[in-house]
Amino acid sequence: MIAALDPARYDVRSIEISRDGRWQLPRPVRGQLAGAAAADPTAAASTDGDSDAGLPIPTGGRAPDPLGEVDVVFPVLHGPFGEDGTVQGLLELAGVAYVGSGVTASALCMDKDLFKSVMRDKGIPIAKSATVRRWDRDRVESPFGFPVVVKPARLGSSVGISIVRAPEDLADAVALAFEHDEKILLEEFLEGVEVECSVLGNESPIASLPGEIVPLSSDWYDYSAKYDEGGMELVVPARVSEEALARVQELAVSSFVAADCEGMARVDFFVRPDGEVIVNELNTIPGFTSTSVYAKLFEASGIPYPELLDRLVQLAVERHDRRASLRY
Ligand SMILES: Nc1ncnc2c1ncn2[C@@H]1O[C@H](COP(=O)(O)OP(=O)(O)O)[C@@H](O)[C@H]1O
Ligand SMILES: [Mg+2]
Repeated sequence: MIAALDPARYDVRSIEISRDGRWQLPRPVRGQLAGAAAADPTAAASTDGDSDAGLPIPTGGRAPDPLGEVDVVFPVLHGPFGEDGTVQGLLELAGVAYVGSGVTASALCMDKDLFKSVMRDKGIPIAKSATVRRWDRDRVESPFGFPVVVKPARLGSSVGISIVRAPEDLADAVALAFEHDEKILLEEFLEGVEVECSVLGNESPIASLPGEIVPLSSDWYDYSAKYDEGGMELVVPARVSEEALARVQELAVSSFVAADCEGMARVDFFVRPDGEVIVNELNTIPGFTSTSVYAKLFEASGIPYPELLDRLVQLAVERHDRRASLRY
């Protein structure tokens, strides 16, 4: 990603967060440093940078001062403590422009249970689900028969998710999901094609061509299919009817707007055998390398990766400037 940012326009600094939560202060990343440090999430703690470079995540509502020196922050963090509004809140407090959705939309889309409530309210088709809280964990039954999908409410990367095909396997799947969250979902199992669509924009968002996910290393889109080399194939455009393609694009934009998203998101769908399109989830910080689905779909739609990055940075600045004119 850093390599695709035009050096004539951007002076890029990386801020890395180590597994123990320490922040590595902004520093130049051109040259050999970027790849190695960014590829290993534990690298920040061990990189021999400035001895005082690590700082703990601030508490008590004070953002780290060094963030004030950057014009735009591009968060490329997935899951809890990054994609869920927490880092966005920190950046709001710091008064810095940042790429992507704000606090509320980020938190909403991270929570599959609350996300569905909002989508239902706006008439956007989603899979039926039942929410189970920690205190009800010993009394779980499937309201949807079998197979049924069990998932943590707020995680990602397919971690903690099970497709349960027989009643005797339900308890284990529930226990697994509860290892990752205090709230879980039981969801009706949807047959069909998994389709993803990228969205870009603030007030008039646009949708990319929809792409079809073909898991190769597994019979569903699990962790290994997502992250192993050759784990999946992306087919663009998705092999569904013209009507279904158009419906995916329409729902990608309307769910993005319904969730109050800004900048970017990847909206994931199921297209059922009869052509019905169902929104599965919305990812406010999708995978973001040049070979990730988000970028590939826009590439196939005529927006090359460097231009995509430019537009996202521009959208961040535009939003920041617009908000600055509001009176509180
Ligand atoms: N209701 C469902 N029916 C069938 N498969 C599902 C269902 N929900 C999830 N899956 C499978 O699990 C994968 C991950 O689920 P998802 O809800 O997207 O969670 P994550 O946030 O971890 O990506 C999906 O890409 C799909 O392959
Ligand atoms: Mg998903």
